[in-house]
Amino acid sequence: MKKRQLGPCVTFFPQPATLICTSDRQDKINLMMASWVGIVSKTPPTIAVSLHHDRQTYANIMAGKVFSVNLVPARLAVAADACGLVSGSVADKHQLTGLEVVPGTVEGVFLVADSPLNVECRWLREVELGDYRLVMGEIVEIHACESAFDDNGQADVRTFDPLVYLGGLREYWSLGSKTADAYSAGSVLLKKQA
Ligand SMILES: Cc1cc2nc3c(=O)[nH]c(=O)nc-3n(C[C@H](O)[C@H](O)[C@H](O)COP(=O)(O)O)c2cc1C
Repeated sequence: MKKRQLGPCVTFFPQPATLICTSDRQDKINLMMASWVGIVSKTPPTIAVSLHHDRQTYANIMAGKVFSVNLVPARLAVAADACGLVSGSVADKHQLTGLEVVPGTVEGVFLVADSPLNVECRWLREVELGDYRLVMGEIVEIHACESAFDDNGQADVRTFDPLVYLGGLREYWSLGSKTADAYSAGSVLLKKQA
């Protein structure tokens, strides 16, 4: 495969489209679009989100030490994108988008009601990376859309319809079709070698 070198930049995809939900000391809700998000540990369950230090979201997290990460379904692309275009320091994005938020199980945590997967987090620690802060949150609860599950407890991810962000291209896409079973498909190669 012939390659073109892009230099040291941040083009990498796919990235998840998430809404980080926080509140300030006056309980004013804020929603921020974030795609630099990922699970970084299983024990303890930990999620990390990289935030520019000037984000209202970062200030809220530092004040309350809690936040939620909410998976964005494709149908909410416009509302979620708006939450990436303007800061909560100048606009009320909760009102602007009309997105309903509901309390989580931890005090001070709010969840986007229309998101099929909400992750409740407690601030664990952070790493300074230039202008960014890699904030790690201990996952204290996950809420997954009830209607996604069948009688055997298997979730059909098509009902989640996650919005996928293509960083570098600045485009949102939907998930395609299932390609293979993870932790399983590669075993054919191992069997061949044995
Ligand atoms: C698709 C997309 C992904 C983004 N991902 C991040 C991110 O991971 N971290 C970040 O600091 N800003 C990210 N932003 C920018 C913030 O969402 C934006 O600056 C927002 O206005 C900050 O809101 P706040 O000040 O209310 O927290 C992203 C924006 C978009 C449109």
